[in-house]
Order: sequence, then C-alpha cells, then structure tokens
Amino acid sequence: MSTYKVGYFIGSLSSTSINRILASALIKLAPDDLEFVEIAIRDLPLYSQDYDDDFPPEATAFKEAISAVDAVLFVTPEFNRSIPGALKNAIDWASRPWGQNSFDHIPAAMIGASVGKLGTAVGQQSLRAVLSFCNARQMTAPEAYIQYTPEGFGEDGTVNDASTEKFLRKYMLEFRNHIHRVLTVLPR
Ligand SMILES: Cc1cc2nc3c(=O)[nH]c(=O)nc-3n(C[C@H](O)[C@H](O)[C@H](O)COP(=O)(O)O)c2cc1C
Repeated sequence: MSTYKVGYFIGSLSSTSINRILASALIKLAPDDLEFVEIAIRDLPLYSQDYDDDFPPEATAFKEAISAVDAVLFVTPEFNRSIPGALKNAIDWASRPWGQNSFDHIPAAMIGASVGKLGTAVGQQSLRAVLSFCNARQMTAPEAYIQYTPEGFGEDGTVNDASTEKFLRKYMLEFRNHIHRVLTVLPR
C-alpha cells in the first residue's frame, strides 16, 4: 500500500482556532499511510493579476508546497456563510498564473468546525464551487460538518466524544481511499 502526503490548509488565521484543533484531531485519527504537512496561507499577500509575470517568493513557495503533496485537505471555518477571505485569497494564488493551476486534478477533501449547529455546511458549499472550477477531484461523501464545543475536544486535538471520534476516523479512512482511487487514474 502506498503512503500519501497530504497538504492541509487551515482556513482560519486565529491564534485560538477551533479548526486548527480539529486538524490536530484528524491527523491523530488518520490511517498510518497518510503523512501531513500544513500549507500555510498566512503570509500570502493579496492576489493581483499584476503578479502573474513575477510571483513573490511567498506565493512561489506556496505553489511549490502544493506541488509536493499528493492531496489536499481543507479544514476551515465558515465566515458569513462562505469561506474566509484569507482562504479564498490562497486559492486564487494557487490557481494562477493561467495554465499553472496547482489544483488541477488534485485529490481534495474539506471539513470544518463552527460554534454554530450548521457546522460550516453553507461555507463548504462555497468552497465546493470554487474547487470545482479549479478542477480539483473532490471527495463528495462523506460530508463532515462539525459543531465544536470545548467539552468535545481537547486543545491538543483529543476527541472526547466516542461517536465523533469514530466519525472522524472513518472520514479520514474514506479520504485515504478517495486519494488512492483518484491517483490510480490520475497520477500526479
Ligand atoms: C467574520 C466572522 C464570520 C463568521 N460567520 C460565521 C458563519 O457564517 N457561520 C458560522 O457558523 N459561524 C460563523 N462565525 C463564527 C465562527 O464559527 C467562529 O468564530 C469559529 O471559532 C471560527 O473558526 P476558527 O476558531 O477556526 O477561526 C463567524 C466568525 C467570524 C469572525
């Protein structure tokens, strides 16, 4: 069985991000044949087409980081029923310059935690639309909408609720299988 390298994006810039806690939980619960590396979005300037002929070093490094992984995982909050601007900015960088879209055919999955009951469901629909245009190969099932409570998760990503832990473990197993299926027909 192959080992796959997963680059993950945290859609939040918050120092107390619940989505960063969720990402820690996912890494702990993932199958052993997945390796994880965070692809940080924090240092990217705001994208403009003016950069297309001469990308700044932060953006070049960002695109190289995506090239170096087999798949991507988005762990993101919902902001105003969509995705955070910082994440959209990062996706815009990855998609350019024209003809050098870093997400073309890449296996991808998304998950998010919210303090609200909808658990980022609406934001994820926005993200799906964007990644669809970017031609990413999205896992469409299972979906994962997590309502975060301080009792449910430890700050280190420990999951205190057994049914949530089981669900997240299964989610990561399904993502691993999705990566395998996509790369079997569309090797990177
Ligand atoms: C600008 C802003 C917009 C938000 N919009 C939503 C929203 O549309 N839906 C939702 O469930 N929570 C929303 N929230 C609350 C977030 O779920 C909450 O702040 C959460 O902690 C963000 O995730 P993070 O801790 O990983 O940054 C919003 C928060 C902010 C700061």
